[in-house]
Amino acid sequence: MRTIDSVEWIEADGALRLLDQRALPGREAYVVCRTVEDVALAIENMTVRGAPAIGIAAAYGVVLAAAGGRGAVREALERLARTRPTAVNLFEALNRMRAILEAEPSLEGEGLAGLLLDGALRIHEADVEANRRMGAYGAELLPRTAVVLTHCNAGAIATGGHGTALGVLRSAREAGKTVRVYADETRPLLQGARLTVWELARDGFDVTLIADGMAGALMRTKRVDAVIVGADRIAANGDTANKIGTYALAVLAAAHGVPFYVAAPWSTFDLTLADGSGIPIEERSDEEMRGLPNGQRVPETVRVWNPAFDVTPARYISAIVTERGVFRPPYMFS
Ligand code: MRU
Repeated sequence: MRTIDSVEWIEADGALRLLDQRALPGREAYVVCRTVEDVALAIENMTVRGAPAIGIAAAYGVVLAAAGGRGAVREALERLARTRPTAVNLFEALNRMRAILEAEPSLEGEGLAGLLLDGALRIHEADVEANRRMGAYGAELLPRTAVVLTHCNAGAIATGGHGTALGVLRSAREAGKTVRVYADETRPLLQGARLTVWELARDGFDVTLIADGMAGALMRTKRVDAVIVGADRIAANGDTANKIGTYALAVLAAAHGVPFYVAAPWSTFDLTLADGSGIPIEERSDEEMRGLPNGQRVPETVRVWNPAFDVTPARYISAIVTERGVFRPPYMFS
């Protein structure tokens, strides 16, 4: 079954169409980006989000700059690199686009735009292909009837299609397995409650929402066969940055003897980093946390700490599932 396209190049329009992930689950709305700045803002304000989807959107963003010439393309590469710091897929995609630009130093105009568009489409297709392969590998890790817990949204809409962690669940189902899912709400932006639950229910999965703080009680009192999450950056030793709250889940999983799996494409690996200590962690606006029910607010006199990601040490990760196969500790990626 084909999943929804969250990032799509509209050839007839020469524009990038993004599923507006801020509007979900209430509305399935789309935003059309015609300039580099449109794309940069869409990444910053999380119209498009999820590590692979950000990289793909940025690649198409570079294509939008081509009409302005080579200088504009270089500026686009710089601007898009300043949007979000943690997901390495963004920088990997921009590096590929830069390599295409530099490989043809005299190309301008439509020729340049065409070449860059080919590059962006290849990045997009390669991501879907990687997800399908990793899905098949990951599906083998799950029992015939599986109950899994996931965090944030590592689904089709966070990628070029199919998804990473949720792609594994889709592939398991395609392989004839029965999969029941618990989804963490994922404070503060609620990617689990807004996006994962919507995406899985849309595909007919049996999905149950829990608040983040319920994961320990869930593992203690109910059956959970595995925790499976995506990633934003994986260091050479397997340390993994993912949505804030992932680390706590990994520690809980270890305490309860539940396997903890990370599913991510090779574009999420940063082998320039020996371990996770060098991964830049995005800190987002305290506004994301000040709103309370009934229109109330956390008083301005109270400080807020709002890191968007945390790093899970490799020792808590039972396996890392990629399109190149399933890796087990000790991790020594090269
Ligand atoms: O801040 P977000 O919503 O972009 O964070 C997304 C995540 O942490 C995902 O788990 C990760 O990018 C993997 S998406 C396949």
